[in-house]
Amino acid sequence: MLSWDDFNTEDNIQPSQPAPAAPPKVAEPAPAAQQTSSAPTASEAIEAARESLEELDVAPGLEELEMGAQRIEVDDKRMINCRADLNQLVPFKYDWAWQKYLDGCANHWMPQEVNMTADIALWKNPEGLTDDERRIVKRSLGYFSTADSLVANNLVLAIYRLITNPECRQYILRQAFEEAIHTHAYQYCIESLGMDEAEIFNMYRELPSVAAKAAWSLKHTQTLGDPTFTTGTTETDQELLRNLVAFYAVTEGIFFYCGFSQILSMGRRNKMTGVAEQFQYILRDESMHLNFGIDVINQIKLENPHLWTDEFQQEVTQMILEGAELEIQYARDSMPRGVLGMNAASMEEYLQFIANRRLAQLGLKEQYPGAQNPYPWMSEIMDLRKEKNFFETRVIEYQTGGALNWD
Ligand SMILES: [Fe+2]
Ligand SMILES: [Fe+2]
Repeated sequence: MLSWDDFNTEDNIQPSQPAPAAPPKVAEPAPAAQQTSSAPTASEAIEAARESLEELDVAPGLEELEMGAQRIEVDDKRMINCRADLNQLVPFKYDWAWQKYLDGCANHWMPQEVNMTADIALWKNPEGLTDDERRIVKRSLGYFSTADSLVANNLVLAIYRLITNPECRQYILRQAFEEAIHTHAYQYCIESLGMDEAEIFNMYRELPSVAAKAAWSLKHTQTLGDPTFTTGTTETDQELLRNLVAFYAVTEGIFFYCGFSQILSMGRRNKMTGVAEQFQYILRDESMHLNFGIDVINQIKLENPHLWTDEFQQEVTQMILEGAELEIQYARDSMPRGVLGMNAASMEEYLQFIANRRLAQLGLKEQYPGAQNPYPWMSEIMDLRKEKNFFETRVIEYQTGGALNWD
């Protein structure tokens, strides 16, 4: 029987490379003549489990856990290439990351809470919306229904393991769940409105202005998505930074802004108010994702100044400009004429203003001198808190800890 005292013996402390794990022991089957079943008896199975635990290596794991090592100090923590134990959340070094995790949880919402009745009636009424307005709804759902999956996959399959800090990982886990909620919200809108699901979900590879944005994001996840990719050299650390810029600053920080402002403008005109409310909550989450990503990039720069060379800064600037140009193309394609008090020209200026913001947030020079924000109401919406209107329109209660029944 294994006891906790066993962990304190010198023999069990293995600071170096752990031995490969022994295959699980299975009880010897009884001789065929006496066997009534091929499965071991309960007592044999328990015995096999105990024998296997006796051989448990106490120093296995992804980060080669070191028994008896010194306790973690704040100064041991680093954003990337950290060798300290990543299984311990505290002591916190990056309070901003933990605070964003708490803020994200405080903003929790679910798509079914939003009443879609008026949207369904409007969408099904042939006179309800103009063709230009319908195009905007379809394009937005077409892009976002897959874009949030691209972001979630990049977080979980590429970024998570390379950000070597527990409080940042805690936020990334929260963000990953929020991305799942966003994909759910788009699916919920598409289903509620009775849209052609195949048409909407395939838009990211069938409609050029949508496909170009998705392809640009996917291009930047390829290298890190390889499970053998590791950081630790200037080249690989810069590759991680490129990915963070591509996803946080461009995909979530630029590619979302034309569609969001179009749908929110529709909501402000009392059209598709349920879809607009979903987008409002998503935008609030996204502005936090963006700010987290900017903080992560800037912290990596601070800890690894050798990565932020002049040449690399030019490269990042170009990435932001490529993102802005793709989003401007999307704006022209989705708004061939003025609609909802907007047009492609005012959207272009808005996107240039947004691109300038992203450059400034990363400590880079603005590239669109004098660009102004023609849609100041967008900033107000982003700062929205969960106010009383939300609760008045909610249609579903989700189960909370207080509602669980222990019987
Ligand atoms: Fe999202
Ligand atoms: Fe996001």
